[in-house]
This record gives sequence, structure tokens and C-alpha cells, in this order.
Amino acid sequence: MRVLFIGDVVGSLGRDTVTTYLPRLKKKYRPQVTILNGENAASGRGITGKIYKKFLADGVDVVTMGNHTWDNRDIFEFIDDAKKMVRPANFPEGTPGQGMVFVKVNTIELAVINLQARAFMVDLDDPFRKVEALVAEARRRTPFIFVDFHGETTSEKQAMGWFLDGKVSAVVGTHTHVQTNDARILPQGTAYLSDAGMTGPYDGILGMKRENVLEKFWTALPQRFEVVEKGRSILSGCLIDIDEKTGAAKKIETIQISDDRPFME
Ligand SMILES: [Fe+2]
Repeated sequence: MRVLFIGDVVGSLGRDTVTTYLPRLKKKYRPQVTILNGENAASGRGITGKIYKKFLADGVDVVTMGNHTWDNRDIFEFIDDAKKMVRPANFPEGTPGQGMVFVKVNTIELAVINLQARAFMVDLDDPFRKVEALVAEARRRTPFIFVDFHGETTSEKQAMGWFLDGKVSAVVGTHTHVQTNDARILPQGTAYLSDAGMTGPYDGILGMKRENVLEKFWTALPQRFEVVEKGRSILSGCLIDIDEKTGAAKKIETIQISDDRPFME
């Protein structure tokens, strides 16, 4: 089974980049499942029902979220009906939406879990204990499990990778918007990448207009950050091959498409 993951899609430039490149990526790599992190898709913060539906129409199978899940109020209108969306599973009990979803790939099921880290982030429930329970639940149905761990620090993400080694097919980090160069298969067969990187503005600072971010560093005064809506874009993600008998990962490679790394058909 081949899984394509697309990292944090930021604003309209990010969405347009998905619409442009997803068909070409599918043609080139033939993934059976496409997962995308959409928590920054609406102007850099949150997602709307319309954007969620557009991702599905573009060929995305599951949309994962993160700390910006609730930033666009439209989410409350559709999240309980959004069967192909996962928000961090370690939000408190009773939070709208779901933290794990199953997708059918021919006769196989893939569980997709979203979790949020805690270092330098809001103090949610323990993601390690939460994922342990979810993986036990998922493994009663399938050994094919993909985890998007949305977090700030590489240490917490590496800890999650090692914690889940041999228990899930892949642990891929999101949130920092910068792709890391540490894709590997851990010894017990779990594919690991600290951060998949972002999809959207290539010339901003993490997708935001540079002048506002620079002003903040220059003056230390509060600034309103605005997403870059025009200009060059980047697509970042990774591709994971999973053994169809065992659920262990066989291969992981990163993907970047930008003016510096043009797409080859
Ligand atoms: Fe985030």
C-alpha cells in the first residue's frame, strides 16, 4: 500500500497548489491513499466546510488537523458530519469531531490518527497514553495505521516515533512548516519523519507575510500576521510504502515541489 501525505496546506496558494499538483503526483506515484493536513487551509487558520469538500473533490481521502482546528468557526457546522476528517485525538473527552478514522483500500483498512504534541503548545491530554489506547483499538481491526503528530519540537516527535515503532505503519510530524531531512524506517518497521513541511507560500515566513513577522522580531510588539495570497508556492509531503501482509513500512521518501525543486513527471 502506498500512502501520499501532503504537509500543512496554507491559505489559497496552498489550496491551489494541491489542485494543480495532486493529479500529477497521483499519476506519477499511484498512491492508494492521500492524506493532507488542512488545519491552515482557510487564510492560514482553520478550515471551512467548502474547503474540506474541495480537498475531497481534488482526490484527498483524509484531512488531518492540529492546533488551529477551531480557528474558523465554520468547523463547528460540519465537523461532526465530516467522516474523512480527524482532529487531534487528545482533545478532552466530548470535543466535537473524531481523532481516528478508517479508510478502505480495496480489502484493507488504514487507520488514520491525528495527535497534538504538548511542548510549547496548549496542554492537552497526554498524547502518548491516548495513542496507546487508540492503537490497541485500531489493531483489533487492522495493522495499517498512519499517525500525524502535530507538534513543535523534534524531540517530542522523535519520542512518539520510537514509542510507536513496530505498533504503527508511520509517524509523520506536522506543524512547523519546515520539512526535516530525517525520513527513515525505524528498526521495528515504522516509517518516521519529524516534519513533512508546508504546502503554500514559498516566499513568506512559514506562509505569513514577511514584513509583519520581521516587524514582530524587530520591535517585539504584537503584530497581526497575514497569510501570503500571491506569488510562488511550494508543495511538501512524503510517500510511504507499506507491506500489505504485515503493515510494516518498507520505504519513506520526502517530496518537495518548488521553483528550486521542479516537479518531474
Ligand atoms: Fe499547527
